Amino acid sequence: MRSRKILMIAGFLVTWTFVIFYFMPKTNGEFPLLKNRRQHTVEKLEQNAREEYHKTDKLMINLLGILQSKYLNEPPEAEEQEAKESHIASNSNNNNNQQQTILSLQEPPANDKLLPDEQRQQEDLQQLQQEVLETPNETEATQQRMTEAATTVITRLGNNQPVIPVLVFACNRVSISKCLDNLIKYRPSAEQFPIIVSQDCGDEATRNVILSYDKEVKLIEQPDQSDIFVPPKEKKFKGYYKIARHYGWALNHTFSKGYEFVIIVEDDLNVAPDFYEYFLGTHQLLKQDSSLWCVSAWNDNGKANLIDTSHPELLYRTDFFPGLGWMLTRELWQELSVKWPKSFWDDWIRHPEQRKNRVCIRPEISRTQTFGKVGVSNGLFFDKYLRYIKLSEEFVPFTKMNLSYLLKDNYDRTFLKEVYTYPVVTYDELRRNLITRDGPVRIQYNSRDVYKRTTKMLGLMDDFKSGVPRTAYHGIVSFVHNKRRVYLAPNVNWKGYDLSWS
Ligand SMILES: *[C@@H]1O[C@H](CO)[C@@H](O)[C@H](O)[C@H]1NC(C)=O
Ligand SMILES: *[C@@H]1O[C@H](CO)[C@@H](O)[C@H](O)[C@H]1NC(C)=O
Ligand SMILES: *[C@@H]1O[C@H](CO)[C@@H](O)[C@H](O)[C@H]1NC(C)=O
Repeated sequence: MRSRKILMIAGFLVTWTFVIFYFMPKTNGEFPLLKNRRQHTVEKLEQNAREEYHKTDKLMINLLGILQSKYLNEPPEAEEQEAKESHIASNSNNNNNQQQTILSLQEPPANDKLLPDEQRQQEDLQQLQQEVLETPNETEATQQRMTEAATTVITRLGNNQPVIPVLVFACNRVSISKCLDNLIKYRPSAEQFPIIVSQDCGDEATRNVILSYDKEVKLIEQPDQSDIFVPPKEKKFKGYYKIARHYGWALNHTFSKGYEFVIIVEDDLNVAPDFYEYFLGTHQLLKQDSSLWCVSAWNDNGKANLIDTSHPELLYRTDFFPGLGWMLTRELWQELSVKWPKSFWDDWIRHPEQRKNRVCIRPEISRTQTFGKVGVSNGLFFDKYLRYIKLSEEFVPFTKMNLSYLLKDNYDRTFLKEVYTYPVVTYDELRRNLITRDGPVRIQYNSRDVYKRTTKMLGLMDDFKSGVPRTAYHGIVSFVHNKRRVYLAPNVNWKGYDLSWS
């Protein structure tokens, strides 16, 4: 019984507490004290609101500051910024309206009058907005800077491999498509080997062919189409003057982008499957060995019967500058560009004053082949010679090979020494197959005439440039005759090239 009473009292107390806790707040509104408190809360909220407005002001100022600085300093945001800018500019007629709208957002609704502090902020803000609205002029400069930044070229890839542009020289041959098809077909990476076509002459049809490659190639145009000065007695060589001017401009332009190497190709060249691999495999040698100044894809004596087709990996050093698909470094261009000639640049470059005993690397089997005969260089030479130069068909993994045998010290120690260990034979013995032993042989020459006569009989190129026979290294010309390696070589005590032999 007693416990039931206690239970009832406890139950009552619990219910009472429950009622007080849940129903009291509902009637609280009637208590004057609470009314005061609520008013207080509202005031506090208002104050908070004002503070929030101040913060918003500050945020707006910050935001405008950020926008402005972004706009003036940050290239990647260019287009976005520009869009904003032009939007603002297009509304420039109702500048005031717009400003007002922006400002009205800042005004604390409860306060008509701004406190000095707020006023200053408003003024700051206004000034900033004004600046933003008035920058289209500065924007142009910025935009230009941004465009420049956007076109800043990549000269090294992520793996630190160099980007090596292929600079194709074009004028008015629409058959350039053959050259470009080939270059694109074998290109292992468009990123590493951007193809830049430089056009002179402004021929519309050729230009359209180049443009039809869209993003595969980049077209640049030689801007100086003024009539070129040619001395009266050289009138017929005007084309060579234009070529020299074109080369000078295009190389200057391309190297100015920061590339370390450039491969030069003419619009009438086909390239071999390992064309890029060849230049990629040899580019380091140009940096390592200061006696090297070019890598050429061309073998002047590259006719099928004069080469060893079973050794497409074979490379040589040569004192003769072959051109026809060749690579040079920026350092070399810096040296040559300041004294670049007005015409006949290839003969000029071969002169001792330019060459300074430097040599090129050339392959046993050409990595380029010329298909064009219409143009500045004469068609006869093409028909008689150039068309028979064999284009290599195999892919040689040059980048995976040890090519240090081509460095001067290694090469001179082996190649030069070996050549003079081979037995001397006469052209007659060779022709009549009277040589009993296997292996390479040497034919000696000691005069210009003997050289000329012998090369003509063997089907080799017989000319000299600045006294250097084509493909020669220290006067030695290497070729194949009836599957035998033959070296046409001067005496052991050779003293150097004779300019008068040209
Ligand atoms: C750029 O603005 C400045 C004043 O800030 C003015 O003197 C100049 O003429 C403007 N330039 C152009 C190209 O509008
Ligand atoms: C290349 O540019 C350099 C530096 O601007 C200049 O000195 C040189 O004459 C230019 N060379 C050619 C061939 O345009
Ligand atoms: C590359 O060849 C040279 C000789 O031309 C040799 O001295 C060198 O050890 C070789 N390097 C490698 C990594 O095989």
